[in-house]
Amino acid sequence: MTKKSRQATNDFCPQTLFLYGTYKENKTPDFGLFCWFSYCWDNELCVMMCIDGEKLTKDRIKAGNVFSANLVTEKLLPMADYLGNKSGYDADKMNFHADIGKGEILDVPILMESPVNYELEVTQRIPFGEGEVFLCRIRNVLYSEELTDQQISVGERLKNIAPISTTCNTYFSYTGEVLGSWGEPGKTFLKH
Ligand SMILES: Cc1cc2nc3c(=O)[nH]c(=O)nc-3n(C[C@H](O)[C@H](O)[C@H](O)COP(=O)(O)O)c2cc1C
Repeated sequence: MTKKSRQATNDFCPQTLFLYGTYKENKTPDFGLFCWFSYCWDNELCVMMCIDGEKLTKDRIKAGNVFSANLVTEKLLPMADYLGNKSGYDADKMNFHADIGKGEILDVPILMESPVNYELEVTQRIPFGEGEVFLCRIRNVLYSEELTDQQISVGERLKNIAPISTTCNTYFSYTGEVLGSWGEPGKTFLKH
């Protein structure tokens, strides 16, 4: 296979997307969209993630050391893209209706429409230039009931929830179709 060098990029390496939920100072929820999320190990499965620059999500995680990570599915994409392109510093960001619940173990807001919700506690922060890396313990994982039905194959369950992936600034459906560029699916979100 002939190879060509590129500068640092993760193009063509699809990533899963999560909406991180935190409470603002006034105790109302804020959600932001994130993909630099993966796993690590210390006696148990843990989460590692990175947030770059100034963001309300980052401020609130640093203030309370807890947040939720809610898996983004095809159904949630318009809202997720909106939340990834609007700053939490804009006071009107969360002025829409969403079914938001509470974590069972941690004091974090949960997106009820997302089939997988992590309740995460930060145990270590590593400043990394403009970004910051967070190592987290998974204090709880909430699954929608449909995911716990052992009668349905894993393949079917995954297809039913249809998590999206992203690479090359583009969203992809579970089966690989292009669902739009970053910034597109969210354009009509508030108009519905
Ligand atoms: C597809 C997508 C993925 C993103 N992933 C990340 C990420 O992993 N890390 C990050 O710092 N920002 C990421 N962002 C940017 C934040 O979602 C964006 O800055 C958002 O406005 C933050 O919301 P907040 O101000 O309420 O925290 C991403 C944006 C998009 C559209």
